Amino acid sequence: MPQPQKGICAEPNLHALYLMFNVIDEQDHAIREKLAKILDVFNHYDEEHYEAMISGVVAIGSNYWMELYPGELPLELAPFPDMSCEDRSAPVVPSDLFIQIRADRADICHAIGVEVYELLKIHVELVEQVKGFRYLDGRDLTGFVDGTENPKGMKKLDVAIVADEDPNFTGGSYIHVQRYRHNLDRWNQVEVEEQEKIIGRTKSDDVEFLSHKKARFAHTKRTSLKDDEGNSLEILRQSMPYGNMKVQGLFFVSCCKSSKPFTKMLESMIFGDETGTYDKLLDFTTPETGAAYFAPSVDFIKRLGK
Ligand code: HEM
Repeated sequence: MPQPQKGICAEPNLHALYLMFNVIDEQDHAIREKLAKILDVFNHYDEEHYEAMISGVVAIGSNYWMELYPGELPLELAPFPDMSCEDRSAPVVPSDLFIQIRADRADICHAIGVEVYELLKIHVELVEQVKGFRYLDGRDLTGFVDGTENPKGMKKLDVAIVADEDPNFTGGSYIHVQRYRHNLDRWNQVEVEEQEKIIGRTKSDDVEFLSHKKARFAHTKRTSLKDDEGNSLEILRQSMPYGNMKVQGLFFVSCCKSSKPFTKMLESMIFGDETGTYDKLLDFTTPETGAAYFAPSVDFIKRLGK
């Protein structure tokens, strides 16, 4: 199988740097070459600082893909789904390139980010840069552990990486990104017992509620979905908290071998179930951006970057 990019199935890290760019010139050939060079930069730092658990992802925006790699379109690549219902919505803020840099050292994320920017800067506008960090024992800033029910071990590949269903894009992954801004003043006024109902798990020791005891509005109820054949829909979440003294939230990243599970989960959160019961977590956090990308295999980027 063509080699997937290392950052897609990487274990959680202490630090991340997320960069979003829009391409402002038509030097597509130069950009293809530079994306291949970015993979070399990731490798170089990984060899020099093995202990820092460095990984990266280079992903191409759904709107930009056909310009960069004309003629070869991943089967399920689609724009970020536009949704809104009552006061809940998922804003669509596309960008051409998404670079995820992760390591257990903030200085290394920074150094790699600078090299990536040096390579790309004559062709692009930097539209967003977000630093992610591990909070306590892998918690979101709401205080709940995030990532517990993620697939583990080899199952990660199964969930996140395109296999034979799209032979031209084996080893790739559909990426959905949303920057959520939390209203922690509001969240922190809610009793822990009620917060636990909203997530569907206990707060301090992260124990899942029995399925029939979960509220319809619980986040883990709204996102635990099955397809028509009764198989669980799964994504690999690679989200991390971000923030400063004024603004805090979750930089949500979903990696999947199909673009559909994320879309179905987000629909279930925003529109709710058949009774219209939506995900109550959305009363306390708001997505401010949303974009869809495809992260092709290392082999693909190298082959087309010659
Ligand atoms: C589970 C937080 C957005 C999909 C969880 C859990 C937490 C959490 C605390 C429980 C522990 C775990 O299994 O990871 C958040 C926060 C979000 C957010 C704070 C936004 C600010 C999303 C979005 C999706 C999603 C946008 C997908 C569209 C899932 C899934 C699970 C989960 C699939 C596992 C459900 C299960 O099988 O129990 N999330 N989440 N989350 N979340 Fe989210």
